[in-house]
Amino acid sequence: MKVLWNEKIVEESEVKIDLEDRGYQFGDGIYEVIRIYDGYLYMEKEHLDRLWVSAEKIRMTLPFTKEELSQRLHRLANEVGLENARIYFQVTRGTAKPRLHNFPDPKEVQPVLMADIQPASRPSSKQNIGIRAGFVEDKRWLHCDIKSISLLGNILALDEAQQKGYDEAVLVRDGYVTEASASNLWMVKDEVLYTHPDGNLVLPGIAKIKIRELVKTLGIELREERFTKEELLAADECFKTSSVAEIMPIIEIDDHKIGEGMPGSLTKKILTAYIETVNLSVQAHRDEK
Ligand SMILES: Cc1ncc(COP(=O)(O)O)c(C=O)c1O
Repeated sequence: MKVLWNEKIVEESEVKIDLEDRGYQFGDGIYEVIRIYDGYLYMEKEHLDRLWVSAEKIRMTLPFTKEELSQRLHRLANEVGLENARIYFQVTRGTAKPRLHNFPDPKEVQPVLMADIQPASRPSSKQNIGIRAGFVEDKRWLHCDIKSISLLGNILALDEAQQKGYDEAVLVRDGYVTEASASNLWMVKDEVLYTHPDGNLVLPGIAKIKIRELVKTLGIELREERFTKEELLAADECFKTSSVAEIMPIIEIDDHKIGEGMPGSLTKKILTAYIETVNLSVQAHRDEK
């Protein structure tokens, strides 16, 4: 499979990553994942904007413009030719020798970019039946707003939930629900939708941006307020969101049914609206060509 390696598109086997790349040694890097629908990179601008915000937060200067990065991603997408896929791209701070914690002089280090594309499809059957989750203490760091490649905290949480037989972890910090291991988390109570506000405790999701717009049009009240695990257990509906999984109902947490223990009506309404808006964007993109 072809991949992007800095400005070149090469076979994956041709990529050489230095052992002293700071991404490899420290997890010193950032990433993004964009869903490709029928060849269209959905919400690309928002993903690129977030990459730049993450870069600024880790004090890394990206050695290309958004336009240049976009062109490279499109070149790769055309080359690989997968119509329904996800594109993963990451930028590490680059190679600095010897290995030292302090940041190298930005003039002496070249950030390393890579991107690859893998097939992806809508997880329809899971979206129809929902998934089961377990509460896990959120022991991640206090920069969860940065889309960092250091994902050990998230991975450990997911593993803890999966070891107990659940599909996903619902993270809880100081009694309040933050998000899921790789998604934002939402609950519905008395027809009102709730999610944790943006800030340093959650990732500002791109699917979340779209859902804010959709619920406005659907006339659903949204409150970006934190809620406790007890409030979540007493909720009528729960779902998680991400660019790849879209809207995924959570029907049970710690073996307690949420609402009726099946995907709720507002969840289904929001999922339908999400799929429609994706289809409209894909159509508009096709009409432009
Ligand atoms: C921790 C975390 N929260 C939320 C999300 C959802 O973000 P997005 O909607 O941009 O995919 C992700 C996606 O990877 C994530 O890793």
